[in-house]
Amino acid sequence: MNQDFLAQWQQLKKIARDESVKDLQALFNQSINRAASLSFEVEDIFVDISKNWITPEILLSLTKLADASQLSEKITHLFTGHNINVTENKPATHTLQRQTNPPAQMAKDRAKMFEVALNYSSGQWLTAFNKPVETVVNIGIGGSYLGPKIAIQALTDLQMKSKVKVLYFASIDDVRLQAIVHTTDIERTLFCISSKSLGTIETLKNANAIKELLEKKNNYQPNKMNQSFVIATANNKRASEFGVPESHVLPFDNATGGRFSVWSSIGFPLLMAIGEKGFLSFLAGAEKMDKHFKEADFNQNLPVLMAMVSIWYRNFMHLTAYAVIPYDANLKHLPAWLQQLMMESNGKMHDVNGEHVDVSTSPWLFGDHGQLSQHAFFQAFHQSKDVLPIDFIGVLGPQTESKKYLLINMLAQSAALMNGSDHDEKQFNCPGNRPSTTILLKELTPSSLGQLLAMYEHMIYVQSVIWNINCFDQPGVELGKTIARNIVEHIQDDTLEEVHLDKSTQQLLAKVLEHE
Ligand code: F6P
Repeated sequence: MNQDFLAQWQQLKKIARDESVKDLQALFNQSINRAASLSFEVEDIFVDISKNWITPEILLSLTKLADASQLSEKITHLFTGHNINVTENKPATHTLQRQTNPPAQMAKDRAKMFEVALNYSSGQWLTAFNKPVETVVNIGIGGSYLGPKIAIQALTDLQMKSKVKVLYFASIDDVRLQAIVHTTDIERTLFCISSKSLGTIETLKNANAIKELLEKKNNYQPNKMNQSFVIATANNKRASEFGVPESHVLPFDNATGGRFSVWSSIGFPLLMAIGEKGFLSFLAGAEKMDKHFKEADFNQNLPVLMAMVSIWYRNFMHLTAYAVIPYDANLKHLPAWLQQLMMESNGKMHDVNGEHVDVSTSPWLFGDHGQLSQHAFFQAFHQSKDVLPIDFIGVLGPQTESKKYLLINMLAQSAALMNGSDHDEKQFNCPGNRPSTTILLKELTPSSLGQLLAMYEHMIYVQSVIWNINCFDQPGVELGKTIARNIVEHIQDDTLEEVHLDKSTQQLLAKVLEHE
């Protein structure tokens, strides 16, 4: 790290020693403009960061830190195809996926996905049982599941208007398989195998289980089996091995990361659910956020501000967790999507040069629908000895009585967290001064959703720049998979004693195997 960066870091450490920054009420008393001056509106998103342990001085120092990390240059690198995914020696192309005019191959991939979706939704293409498609089952996991799932749930209103409903088959789960079979007319179902690598064991097992199931049906037409499948993947070779014809393969660029891939053909189920117009508007929303991220000054730049506030909490206030609490049932999957995005991207201890990172990186992120969480884990938000920053997310319109009720509850919670309460009996005391950010969306539309997801994607990129880590790989998740593969292979060969396992795992594995 350069001298300027280190100097800014030291400066922030010095500021952090002053405990008065945690006195939110005093900060509001010091500046009558605090709420307005620490709120930002970009397109359909309004972000109020005034209830955080920050001052204009801190924000200035944080933006100087961002400057010193060469963030401007790194943002340019993201958008201009530099090989920023250094360990895999490739660029990160998710922002190209949502461009109005993407590069030629991506435009071709998008056109093909639209054509296939239209063929099915118009009834021109039928399933292997010669029936039109009424349900799409997404067979995929990780980003190939959470991306379509957050978006489809968020846009439930649009999905309800479309003829197609979407179900998910992610984990290996016999019960889930049975549930799909019993609740769905599988003769009118299109199975979308969503896997960037097409090497993910859960997805392949689930796809094969479905294939076997279809083959057992009386009226199944073997030569037409493929009509019940499409494959969204960046691995065309494996797609052809699966036996699906080229016309049913929806390719996408290999340099688009799994957790950033909902904008690509991994978004096919979303396209089926909300139609071409909705999907294009989703992409356009994200593109608007890309433009904002590229062009806005850091002190007005939503992803940069969100990231720098999170850096402040993680590295200078030493808060380990981060909660994301949408007060809208349609956004209830946002925390799970963001959990993968932040923790798989930035939960790392080595920098881009392979050196150990001296400071803490990704916080532990969790969350759920606010109204439900309020009656579950909010007690700890108010009175636990540990504090964490919270993003509250609300949707303003179209306003109904129930939506207003939700929003009022959300505001009441953030106010209660900040202001606390004083009681004679100590156990009723809420200490207050608990920080939060409030994000308001004008409405939940494909465009505003695109903006919101892209905002968080860029926030995570900015965090990674500050920590100097590669946020586009995930080497840590491989180890457990390798051990599982090794055990399975040795069980098959009856040579389990050759696998070196610790005593605890040996004992537990014995229990698993005995139980048959
Ligand atoms: O195991 C982690 C991971 O590689 C994620 O990064 C990814 O989203 C998920 O598995 C699924 O991968 P694929 O789309 O290649 O099946």
